[in-house]
Amino acid sequence: MALLRKINQVLLCLLIVTLCMILYKKVHKETELKNKADDDSEMPEEVEEEIPVVICAAAGRMAAAMAAINSIYSNTDANILFYVVGLRNTLSRIRKWIEHSKLREINFKIVEFNPMVLKGKIRPDSSRPELLQPLNFVRFYLPLLIHQHEKVIYVDDDVIVQGDIQELYDTPLTLGHAAAFSDDCDLPTAQDITRLVGLQNTYLGYLDYRKKTIKDLGISPSTCSFNPGVIVANMTEWKHQRITKQLEKWMQKNVEENLYSSSLGGGVATSPMLIVFHGKYSAINPLWHIRHLGWNPDARYPEHFLQEAKLLHWNGRHKPWDFPSTHNDLWESWFVPDPVGVFKLHHHNS
Ligand SMILES: *[C@@H]1O[C@H](CO)[C@@H](O)[C@H](O)[C@H]1NC(C)=O
Repeated sequence: MALLRKINQVLLCLLIVTLCMILYKKVHKETELKNKADDDSEMPEEVEEEIPVVICAAAGRMAAAMAAINSIYSNTDANILFYVVGLRNTLSRIRKWIEHSKLREINFKIVEFNPMVLKGKIRPDSSRPELLQPLNFVRFYLPLLIHQHEKVIYVDDDVIVQGDIQELYDTPLTLGHAAAFSDDCDLPTAQDITRLVGLQNTYLGYLDYRKKTIKDLGISPSTCSFNPGVIVANMTEWKHQRITKQLEKWMQKNVEENLYSSSLGGGVATSPMLIVFHGKYSAINPLWHIRHLGWNPDARYPEHFLQEAKLLHWNGRHKPWDFPSTHNDLWESWFVPDPVGVFKLHHHNS
């Protein structure tokens, strides 16, 4: 009996060794073939890097995303891959708008965002329900949308890019940082503007410091906030730090304890990010995020300041495709007409 078992064991070993050899040969052959193919093909001197840009196209404001895309594409020679994110029922409309307009030349992928992932994570009682649109939270889930790239750009739909997006992409990320943002007190001019439009630019504006959970974070309420409307992110680091899980945790906590200040625009998506990224983000050049153009329709910004700006962001209620709004001429010049004619630009004097 013992002898038989030994023989069996020897046979099994032999079988495993044979299998390993076959596998090794196969893999080896494949790599050989691959190397050969590489040698044969004439590779271009330098392979141009693809810049992934994530932008959401919501049903009611698709024109915004299209204008932003147009501005980005028109101001660069870089090879951009647009990830245009929408909800299921708008995907065909997004495709149509791109393929039947001057945008047909862009490289793009249409990505569906399933709002079910947000179930139980959003408080329904915000003072600005439009901020609860599921697509506002797409930026929390970047690694789920993007697989082939390590570094990605995310921009809100209410932006216009005037500079070469390559510059934004080249924003250095400190090792160990999953993302870069623009601080809300970065530019002296930006501070003037913050005062001009009467805006909070600290954590106090986003978190309810009367709540113990917030106090226990040990973050000073006078810490400068940042705006997550423009993000340069490192997916490797993001996954490593489990940023998405952390953000979801803080959304859930808010549902249970009502931790966020509801007084400010962008609050719902901004607050969890302020907590999760506190002290752990790199800086975006302030000219790459000139903000608050949508805050006060009566506040005009100095002309030279707008010309220098690489990126304009109409955060706030007053969007440049609506009335009243400010500096809408800068937005309208990038407008891409709706090929189906549903969305029409209302001409107004500004
Ligand atoms: C992204 O993060 C990983 C892990 O920290 C790091 O090795 C890599 O160099 C980073 N890439 C960029 C583009 O910053």
